[in-house]
This record gives sequence, C-alpha cells and structure tokens, in this order.
Amino acid sequence: MNFEQIVPSMPYILQGIWVTLQIILIAGLLGFAIGIILSLFKIGRIPFLRWFADGYTSIFRGTPLVLQLMIIYYASPQLFGVQIEAYTAAILSFGLNSAAYISEIIRAGIQAVDKGQREAAMALGVPYNKMMKDVILPQAMKNILPALMNEFITLTKESAIVTVIGVTDIMRRAYIVGSDKFSFLEPLLFAGLIYYLMVLVLTFAGKWVEGRMRRSD
Ligand code: ARG
Repeated sequence: MNFEQIVPSMPYILQGIWVTLQIILIAGLLGFAIGIILSLFKIGRIPFLRWFADGYTSIFRGTPLVLQLMIIYYASPQLFGVQIEAYTAAILSFGLNSAAYISEIIRAGIQAVDKGQREAAMALGVPYNKMMKDVILPQAMKNILPALMNEFITLTKESAIVTVIGVTDIMRRAYIVGSDKFSFLEPLLFAGLIYYLMVLVLTFAGKWVEGRMRRSD
C-alpha cells in the first residue's frame, strides 16, 4: 500500500463530500416532507389515501433503491418526457425512497403518543388538523428523533450508489482516482474513512439533540 501516491488526489476526493452532503440534505428534506403527508394518510380516515400510502411504502421498500435510481435516471425521457440530470435523479430517488421509510417512522411515532392527549384535545373541542399540528405531532417528533437520525445515516451510506449513474460523489471520485493510478485500495479506503467520519458526526449530532430534548422534559 502506498498512500503517498494519492495525496495529490485527496482534495479531489474530499470535494465529493459537498456533492454527497447536498444530495442527502435535499433528499432528506424531501423524504421528510412526503413522509409526514404519507403518515397522515396512513392514520387518517379516508380509505383511498390509506391504500395509496400503504401501496407507496410497499413498492418503495420492496424494490432495490439502486433500481429506483436507475429507473428515474435512465427512463426519465419515458417517465417525464425529458432527460433529467443525474444529480436531480439522485435527489428524487433518494427522497422518494426515504419517504417510504420516514412515513413508517412517523406513523409509529404518532401512534405511540398517549391516547389521553388526543382525547383531551377532542374533549376541549380542538379541531382535528389543529390537534395534529399543535398537540400530537410535536410530541411524536420527540419519540422519532433517534429513528430519523438512523434513516439519515442510512441515506448517507446508501448515497454511494449514485456513482452508478455518474454523479461525482465521494465514491465515484475515489474510483476515478483508483483507475487513474491503477491502484484502487488506497483511494477506496480513503473514501471509506470519509464516510465513516461523516456517520460518526451524525451519530454524535443525534445524541446531542436527544440529550437536549430529554433535558426539556
Ligand atoms: N440497500 C437498501 C435497498 O436497496 C436500502 C434502502 C434504503 N433504505 C432507507 N432506509 N432509505 O433497498
């Protein structure tokens, strides 16, 4: 092993952090927004919406993420009538996929809120939407934070598959450097270290937020 030969390429690989971060941050937000809506569908009283949300989760959890990514990217002319950028396809597929998982996390979190809270709100005549927004969801959010953090960590690691559609994230940059130097082990190990450190930072951030929330109890 000779790490010296990849030292000049390290900044190039490190720049991939920004690409990876952008994808997971936007996809995470998208997944969270769609996830909340789906979870409300799941616990709501409208059968069609329940059926839709359950079907959505079933399909996005039941097929490989890399397949969803490739369908959205390579089949975008047939799906949307235009060839979308690889970067957009990455955000879209990760966001849609994550929404399926996040909707389950939020649904479980909402259902774990003591039903006395709901009964009290109803007894006071608080309308359903207001009760959800001001009473149930804020309490649910606290319960689901660790699971959400987990999802975000999964997203960070899974993001490496965007390399198959040519996005120059950390992973692809490491691969490019490897094929340039005819030596793959060093750049790939370096990429591994970057992912590992990113996950460590996320884990600590999650613990910190959890600790703060517990203090406010
Ligand atoms: N490797 C799994 C798949 O391809 C991961 C799915 C993404 N998981 C997630 N929590 N968003 O299906």
